[in-house]
Amino acid sequence: MQRLKIEGGRKLSGEICVHGAKNAALPLLAACVLAKGETVLHNCPKLSDSYAALRILSCLGCRCKREGDTAIVNTDALAGFDVPDDLMREMRSSIVFLGAILGRCGRCKLSFPGGCELGPRPIDLHIKALRKLGAVIKEEYGLLDCEVPSGLRGSRISLSFPSVGATENIILAASTAKGETVIENAAREPEIADLAGFLNKCGARIKGAGTSRIVIAGVDELFGCEYNVMPDRIVACTYMSAAAVTGSELNIKKVNYHDLTSVIPVFEEMGCTVFPFSDNIYISAKKRLSAVKNVRTMPYPGFPTDAQAILMPPLCTAQGTSVIVENIFESRYRHIDELCRMGARIKTEGRVAVIEGVKTLYGANVMATDLRGGAALVLAGMGAQGETIVSNVKYIDRGYESIETDLTKVGASIVRI
Ligand code: UD1
Repeated sequence: MQRLKIEGGRKLSGEICVHGAKNAALPLLAACVLAKGETVLHNCPKLSDSYAALRILSCLGCRCKREGDTAIVNTDALAGFDVPDDLMREMRSSIVFLGAILGRCGRCKLSFPGGCELGPRPIDLHIKALRKLGAVIKEEYGLLDCEVPSGLRGSRISLSFPSVGATENIILAASTAKGETVIENAAREPEIADLAGFLNKCGARIKGAGTSRIVIAGVDELFGCEYNVMPDRIVACTYMSAAAVTGSELNIKKVNYHDLTSVIPVFEEMGCTVFPFSDNIYISAKKRLSAVKNVRTMPYPGFPTDAQAILMPPLCTAQGTSVIVENIFESRYRHIDELCRMGARIKTEGRVAVIEGVKTLYGANVMATDLRGGAALVLAGMGAQGETIVSNVKYIDRGYESIETDLTKVGASIVRI
């Protein structure tokens, strides 16, 4: 088992680059299934989850290659419609392959993605919507057996919650369906707009992505194209937090600050100076930050649930008491027990976490229990006195190409052991 050893208390300075977004790359890789011929995805992050998506594509018969930051997928020999159980388990967001495979093959068999480290992750909204588009879906023994006996047909779908994955699955299935699909209360995350941008470049006719009403006019077929994956806004947020927790200055490059409009004011409220310009964010943090009154995670454009854990380390040592409310996932506070081992004073009640700022955190042996919670422990270790060992690094590797390499380049002391 790999671990990260962090020597706390190091100041950071310099430039740090953000890689392509995991949550955009995964649906884009799934979308490749719909596109005939070859698709070239640049800025595709080298993460365990994107390798799992490429393995799914290979299992379906696609020819896949990686050349540095570029992934190349050719679907000419696509033959299968089954996603193996082990790959479904490895990456729960693989459910987004369902809409794409149904759109291209008219059949799809995959296992239920099941529960996960953030609590139960139902897919009822995905299934209900795909049924509305004409899919017949049998659910038995944890397996989903889906077909479209009379083809996929456009429909009007109103989501009871703006689920990111469900919106993506509907867009994928509707792109080559007969007629028009309208999604009301669609998720507005920038990754949805990135998916629609890619599909439109392949020949789809999608309007309104990034707003809560998306209109998709089905086309007969799609063809591969060349596309750049958007920057990872959560990785950008992680590096902002790294500057904040160490009282440092960083210039974060290759980032789209428009995607961080709900995050930047929170760092400013803590007392950081944030200066976005072009595709950079400059952040400078004073030695002791201030608590924040109330941060609520919400669907985009609200404060992202993926940044909730990442925000916590600087708040642990801020002056005063901060309150965070997690509104998206039921069980997304598993990093808190680990932060408390390092001396943090955090109490939770249901969805509310109350963080009483302490003077300092102390290095400890802690365990990552999920991706962003794991990243939060690395950040806490960087701000703590002494040595921190974070185990279960495999979770962190799902979302960061090499967190220790990036942060070490700007002055942190982190080694993989
Ligand atoms: C995506 C992101 C994840 C992020 C989340 C919310 C990817 C690969 N993952 O996950 O990093 O934290 O958006 O921004 O893009 N729900 C249902 N029924 C459904 C679907 C969802 O009840 O059919 C609930 C979920 O349990 C959860 C909430 O809706 O409580 C949000 O889920 P959703 O927006 O679908 O998130 P994901 O697409 O799974």
